[in-house]
Amino acid sequence: MCGIVTAIATNNVVPVLLEGLRKLEYRGYDSAGVAVLANGLTRLRSTGRVAELAALADARQLSANIGIAHTRWATHGVPCERNAHPHISGGLAVVHNGIIENFEAIKSSLQARGYVFESDTDTEAIAHLVHSKLATTPDLFEAVRLALNELVGAYAIGVVAEADPFRAIVARRGSPLLLGVGEEGMYAASDTAALLQVTRKVIYLEDGDVAELRLNAYRIVRPDGTPAEREMHISSLSADAVELGQFRHYMQKEIFEQPQALGNTLEIIAGGGSVSPQLFGSRAPEVLDGVRRVLVLACGTSYHAGLVARYWLESVAKVPCSVEIASEYRYRESVPESDTLVVVISQSGETADTLAALKHAHGLGMGRTLAICNVPESAIVRETALRFITRAGPEIGVASTKAFTTQLAALALLTLTLAKLNGRLSEAEEARHLGALRHLPVAVQKVLELEPEIEKWAQRFAAKHHALFLGRGRHWPIAMEGALKLKEISYIHAEAYAAGELKHGPLALVDKDMPVIAVAPADELLEKLKSNLQEVRARGGELYVFADAGSEIAESEGLHILHMPEHYGMLSPVLHVIPLQLLSYHAALVKGTDVDKPRNLAKSVTVE
Ligand code: G6P
Repeated sequence: MCGIVTAIATNNVVPVLLEGLRKLEYRGYDSAGVAVLANGLTRLRSTGRVAELAALADARQLSANIGIAHTRWATHGVPCERNAHPHISGGLAVVHNGIIENFEAIKSSLQARGYVFESDTDTEAIAHLVHSKLATTPDLFEAVRLALNELVGAYAIGVVAEADPFRAIVARRGSPLLLGVGEEGMYAASDTAALLQVTRKVIYLEDGDVAELRLNAYRIVRPDGTPAEREMHISSLSADAVELGQFRHYMQKEIFEQPQALGNTLEIIAGGGSVSPQLFGSRAPEVLDGVRRVLVLACGTSYHAGLVARYWLESVAKVPCSVEIASEYRYRESVPESDTLVVVISQSGETADTLAALKHAHGLGMGRTLAICNVPESAIVRETALRFITRAGPEIGVASTKAFTTQLAALALLTLTLAKLNGRLSEAEEARHLGALRHLPVAVQKVLELEPEIEKWAQRFAAKHHALFLGRGRHWPIAMEGALKLKEISYIHAEAYAAGELKHGPLALVDKDMPVIAVAPADELLEKLKSNLQEVRARGGELYVFADAGSEIAESEGLHILHMPEHYGMLSPVLHVIPLQLLSYHAALVKGTDVDKPRNLAKSVTVE
């Protein structure tokens, strides 16, 4: 979703603003813009890539010591130059990430006062509102603060004004924003990666904070104007972690980083480590004590991780578990139960619906909350009683891969912890499960070696318009994840079904043009699945089966089989998702789509 960079420095900030936008490209966008103050306000906008905006800036020899920049993911108004940020009112310019829910009311009242709107965006209302405040409150910082108090919705904003060229104002509520304290100046951006080029010293703004950035000073206030102190952190994010290196795409890099990501995430149980509540935070013994059920809330790929965990939690820990899409849960009337552990899963920790679902659960009095998240300082992590930080490293590709498998690793640890607390895990079983978890990076590495064969399969897929994914039990969510990956990046329409449901509808779709992908591990459901595969073959459907080593499914005309190196018991979903990630990646390559930035999608969905 939209990305923001703001900079004020002793040197030219234009390269910093543009490089910041490049680092935010992964969030997903359809247009980009920059506004700087140098002998007046100059704004450049482009409906293309950041590279095009950079070319425009080059051609104009844009140079300034203060400015704001933005990548826009359209919400209000189509992607076009007129709707691209920054938006201007008089001599002030605003960039914004989020959605202002009451913008129509604000817009009407401003129009009644003579303000003319040039765009269809909600952001332009912020620009005019701040401008209108300047009539009675000449101080820009105060004008911004007062304007923000009238907004309903989510925002992270950056503001600069011609009349006040020695400071930039930024603020956040609901959308991410952090400050960077550099040698040459002060900065703000939607994430740390955008600022690593100038500093590692970062300050995470809290919801409602308004901050003023000057060349070598900053101050932060709360919405009522009272000063606020925020801790400074030294980011440990390595610049390499967000570089592509030898890989063609971030998604490919991230698929191949999975052994490392899993190894890092599971480091806490390396050697002689065992499962214990403390893995989830110091308050875990008290919060987990008496937990009788689990409710998982998440979106997208993270939701699929939750669905896999349901099978684990119920079969291994014997804890009833329900998994809900966050955007559904937040708006539905549900029955809260105080002995429920609410688990929110999110790669980014900023997904608006997941955050709102968590707040909704809090509002219902459910205080036992756990975040499984890849970003330690994110909004979601700051709101839960317990947390488990996956150590996947930054995930740039919109289609989530290494975040997913590390979420599964965290959920496996949660399952074992609850099983142990419930007296459902013998020492021998714990040792066996821990052994399997420790071996996981090696097992994943072996699966990655199947890439050349999967690549061949992908060639045959690229021409198809539809695909069906089948799975059973804990591999049904893996089939769902495979279908999601394929549609996200190759734009091939794909659906996943629990294989037993095939004859209740989807079988009607099966013909020679409908490839059917089956996740077929050698588990207790394999024989059932084989019957489902026969049903497909009998209708002329072409089958692509991911089986385990030693599975006796014979290859034949129209039935292609790829054997995984080993069967992996409870953790088998972690292995079986890998070939599906590779399949969608290679199908997208053949189709020539923008793998890391698929059309219409965003990495960090900070609006509902
Ligand atoms: C977006 C991303 C998905 C991700 C989902 C949930 O749709 O494109 O890859 O799974 O958001 O994001 P989260 O950060 O909460 O895991």
